[in-house]
Amino acid sequence: MSITYNGVTGEFHLSNGVISYIICVYENGYAGQLYFGAALDPLGSYRHLYRSRFDGFSNSAGEFARFEYPSYGNGDFRLPAVTILQEDGSSVIEPVYRSHRIVTGKEPIPFLPATYVDEADEAETLELDLEDAKSGATITLSCTIFRDHAAVARHVRIRNGGKSTLRIKCAMSASLDLEDSGWELLTLTGAWARECGVTTRSLAQGFQGVASSRGISSHHQNPFVALKRPETGESMGEAYGFSLVYSGNFLAGCEVDAFGISRVRIGINPEGFDWELPPGAFFDTPEAVLAWSGTGLTGLSDAYHGLYRTRLARGFWRDRPRPVLLNNWEGTYFDFDEKKLLSIASSAKELGAELFVLDDGWYGKRNDDTSSLGDWIVNPEKLPEGISGLAEKVGKLGLSFGIWIEPEMISARSGLFERHPDWAIGIPGRPRTEGRQQYVLDFSRREIVDHLYEVLSGLFSGARVSYVKWDMNRCLTEPFSLSLPADRQGEFFHRYCLGVYSLYERLISAFPEILFESCAGGGGRFDPGMLFYAPQAWTSDDSDAIERLKIQWGASICYPLSSMGAHVSAVPNHQTGRMTPLATRAAVAFFGVFGYELDPAGLSDAEKSIISEQIAFYKKHRGLFQTGRFIRLKSPFDGNDVAWMVVSPDKTLAVAGAYRILARPSPGLSRLVLRGLLADASYRVAAWPAGTNDAAETNNTGLRGGDELMHAGLLFGGDRWYAPTQGDFWSRLFVLEKQE
Ligand code: GLA
Repeated sequence: MSITYNGVTGEFHLSNGVISYIICVYENGYAGQLYFGAALDPLGSYRHLYRSRFDGFSNSAGEFARFEYPSYGNGDFRLPAVTILQEDGSSVIEPVYRSHRIVTGKEPIPFLPATYVDEADEAETLELDLEDAKSGATITLSCTIFRDHAAVARHVRIRNGGKSTLRIKCAMSASLDLEDSGWELLTLTGAWARECGVTTRSLAQGFQGVASSRGISSHHQNPFVALKRPETGESMGEAYGFSLVYSGNFLAGCEVDAFGISRVRIGINPEGFDWELPPGAFFDTPEAVLAWSGTGLTGLSDAYHGLYRTRLARGFWRDRPRPVLLNNWEGTYFDFDEKKLLSIASSAKELGAELFVLDDGWYGKRNDDTSSLGDWIVNPEKLPEGISGLAEKVGKLGLSFGIWIEPEMISARSGLFERHPDWAIGIPGRPRTEGRQQYVLDFSRREIVDHLYEVLSGLFSGARVSYVKWDMNRCLTEPFSLSLPADRQGEFFHRYCLGVYSLYERLISAFPEILFESCAGGGGRFDPGMLFYAPQAWTSDDSDAIERLKIQWGASICYPLSSMGAHVSAVPNHQTGRMTPLATRAAVAFFGVFGYELDPAGLSDAEKSIISEQIAFYKKHRGLFQTGRFIRLKSPFDGNDVAWMVVSPDKTLAVAGAYRILARPSPGLSRLVLRGLLADASYRVAAWPAGTNDAAETNNTGLRGGDELMHAGLLFGGDRWYAPTQGDFWSRLFVLEKQE
C-alpha cells in the first residue's frame, strides 16, 4: 500500500495492489480525477487519461474534465460537490491546490463516526489543501487507502481562513466522475418492514439517485449506492460502491451529462442544509467509503464487510461472539409483569439462549404506545423489584440481561413533557406533527443530551445491564431548534445527528462492555454511522423468514452478517400472517446475529426440542456465521429458489442455505453451484437438519470435491413426491467440512 506523488506531472497515486485511485492537479490548480479502479503500476503517469491541458473553464473546456471536488458556478454545469455562499452574495469559489501531506495511518474525524486503523501501517492518507483566495476558504480533501481492503475513505474539511462569515450550502463527502454512463445504479430501497430491497436502473442523461430528508437515514433509502455494468453479476464484472458513514439526511446519486460522463455524489442532503462558518471555524463532512470490485458484487461486499466489521465497528464486542438472545417484544408486546418475564427467561435458558432482552413497556405508565417516552423510571406495577431486581433474577437463571430504550423520544403524555414541553422539536406557533403518537427530543441541545446521559447512565449502573437495544421510532418533522438563531436553523438536522452520536459516545465510553444494538422501527437507521457505536442493528421489524430473505440479501450487499440482528418468531407471522416451518425461520435467521422473539409458553415440546437443537447448531457455528465470508448465490429478487453461503477465512468450513419459496409439482432438476471453496480439497457435506432422507439430502451428502461443488454443485429435484412432502417455504442447510 502506498501513496506516491509525482511532482512533475502533479499526480497522486493511491494504491494497495488491488485498487488504484489517482488524483491530479490540473494546469489551473484545480484537483482533477484521473482514475479509480483495478490497481495500476504506481510508478506510471496517467496524466494523459484526461486528454488535454485544463487551464480553466472556457467555452467547452472542462466539459470532459473529471474533478475531485467540483464547485458551483464556474463553468462546470454538472451538480457541484461544494457550494459556499459568501458575504457579497456570490457562491462561486476557485479551489486551487496549495499544499498536501501524505500521512501514515488515519486520523479520526471529530464528533463523527469513521473507519479507523488499529496499527498505523494499515493505511495511508493523502490530505490535499485547496484554497479559494478571495473568500479565504480552504478545502482539505482527505483520502485514505487501506492496506487490506479494496476501498478508499473520503472526508472533507472546510475551514474559513477569511475575514467574513461563510455559509456552506452543500458539502458532499465524495464525488466521482466516470467517463461513461454504461452503468446501472443499484440502490437499497423499501419501507418500514421491507427495508433494503435491491433496485437497479440503467443510467440516463439527467439526475438519478436516492435521498433522505427524514432526519434519519430511513427505511426507504439506505445511504449506499453502487454502479454496476449491466453484465456484472455476483461473481464477475465491475462495480463501484458508495457508502456514507452517517445516520441523518443524505443524498447519493448520479448525474449523467450530455456527453455521458457520470458524476456520483454522496454526502449530507443539501436540501434544508445551511451551515454558518465564522472566520477561523471549520466544518467536517461525514466520511464516504468508496469501493471498487472487478469480481462482481461479491467483491464489493467483501470490501465493505471486512472494513465495516473490523475497522468501523469497535470496542469490546467487535471481535467477540455475540450472544444468542431472546427478546420478549413479539411474545408479550406491552402485556407483561415480572412473573411472566421470568417464566420466559427461564424457558429461554432451558432452550440454550444466553441473553434475555426486555423490550418496550417497562417504564412510566407505558401499557400501549401512547405514553411515557422520556420517563425512564420503572413501572412498579409490572416490575415491583425494579430493573435491578429483574436483572438480578435473570442473572440467577444464568442469563445476561438486556433492556430496550428509546432515548430520543418524548410522549405528550409523560412527566418529562409536563416538565419540559419545549424539549420536543417543534416550531413556536405551529402544531407539532405526531409520529407513532410521540415527539422527538431536540438532541441538538446539549442540556437535553446531558439529561439523557444522567438518566441512562443511572439506569445502566443501577442494574446488571449487558445489552441495550436503542430504538428510534419516528422521523423528524418541523425541524427547528430553540437553541439556534433564525439564520442558523439550517444546521438543525446535522446538529441533531451529532447529538445522537455524542450520547452514544458517552455511554459506550462509560459502559464499554455493554453490547449496543441500534434500531429504528427495525431498519430505519441501519447505516454505517450507527455501526461505529453499536456493532449490531435490528435489521427489520419484519421477522417473516421469506421477507427476511430479501431484506438480509439486500442489506448484505454493504453490511456484514455481524451487523444484522435476525430472530426466529412465532407463526402466523405478526407482519405477514405467513406460516413458515420452524426450520426455515432458523435457516434464514442463522445468517445474522441470531435470536428469538416469541413467548416459549406457546411452543409445543417438539418445537422446544427443535429450538434447542437450533441454538446448539448456531453456537457451534457462530464464529462462521458472524465472521465468515458471505457469498450470495441465488437472489430472492429473481426467482423462487434462493441460496447463499458463508465460508470460513481458511475455507475449511462452510454452511450453505438453500430455500424454495413456493412448492411446485413435478420439479425438474436444478443445480446450486457453490463458490469460495478450495477447489482441490475434499469436503464432507452434511444436511441440516439431517435425517429427512429426501432427494436434497440423499443426493448431496457425503464426500465431495471442492471443484465438484463449485462446478457441478449440489443437485435438487428429481423427486416426484418432493412438492407434496415439503410444501411451501422449504429450506435446507448444508454444512461443508474440509477433510484432511
Ligand atoms: C420498534 C422496534 C421493535 C420494538 C418496538 C417497541 O418498532 O423496531 O423491535 O422494540 O419498537 O415499541
